[in-house]
Amino acid sequence: MLDSGRAPAKADPRPSHGRNAPPLIEVADLDLWYGETHALKNVTFDVYPQEILAFIGPSGCGKTTALKTLNRMHDGNPDVRITGRITMSGADINAPEVDPPLHRKRFGWVAQKPNPFARSIYENVAYGARLHGLVDTGAEMDAWVEHCLRRAHLWDEVKDHLHDQSGFDLSGGQQQRLCVARAIGTDPEVLLMDEPTGSIDPIATARLEELMMELRVDHSIVVVTHSMMEARRVADRVAHFHLGELLEIGPTEQVFLDPRNPETRRFVEGKSG
Ligand SMILES: Nc1ncnc2c1ncn2[C@@H]1O[C@H](COP(=O)(O)OP(=O)(O)O)[C@@H](O)[C@H]1O
Ligand SMILES: [Mg+2]
Repeated sequence: MLDSGRAPAKADPRPSHGRNAPPLIEVADLDLWYGETHALKNVTFDVYPQEILAFIGPSGCGKTTALKTLNRMHDGNPDVRITGRITMSGADINAPEVDPPLHRKRFGWVAQKPNPFARSIYENVAYGARLHGLVDTGAEMDAWVEHCLRRAHLWDEVKDHLHDQSGFDLSGGQQQRLCVARAIGTDPEVLLMDEPTGSIDPIATARLEELMMELRVDHSIVVVTHSMMEARRVADRVAHFHLGELLEIGPTEQVFLDPRNPETRRFVEGKSG
């Protein structure tokens, strides 16, 4: 081999599939303060189309904060100051001409605790599409609700109770799949999931992970997880946060088996965090 003795190749931070596609989101030199708390420090990463990017790292290291910068969820918080640049399809998401609700519509959000609306199963899914005028009411909406529920692997379990049961009549795992159906109901480009399996049982977790792997065909997924096993099972790439810094990002196998950063090595080997 000609390259014997050469320095090891620098880890390629891009996903192995579709790496010739341009990133959908580019985050560069991002800093964020909550008042005096410096929660994100010079954070840089990209999100590619059709990938699952997992954020890992100890509690309080900035994972949720980073997720919220993408869909401008910090907008309403007067204590937050952000510097740096985030672009989506090449355009600055914080530019004055960007309409925040329209920007937010490009994202679906799934929280740790299933949080369906206190309305019928049908309404949970139809609400966003109706709000944004995405789909006409009537047969077209019926078809869209069915599509989203099928996509979320929930249709067969709820199809006879779309109107007479509320989201709260479902089990925890079903509620979380309903929240996924609701999140994709506005046809977002990106799903942001903040520890989506953090409060459901192992069987429901396996179903949700399977679902995520199917959904990435249509949506980029950025998922926060405290489970390294989960990150290894579902993620194409992993980003390791530590005390507000993003220490390492790369293909999942590389980050777990051959991390470049010593602190990342300690974390994935279970010696820190
Ligand atoms: N709304 C907030 N106001 C003030 N400080 C916050 C707020 N949210 C998070 N923080 C602080 O920012 C840091 C990062 O928090 P967070 O992003 O929630 O971490 P993670 O999701 O990795 O557990 C922590 O020090 C946390 O206390
Ligand atoms: Mg968090």
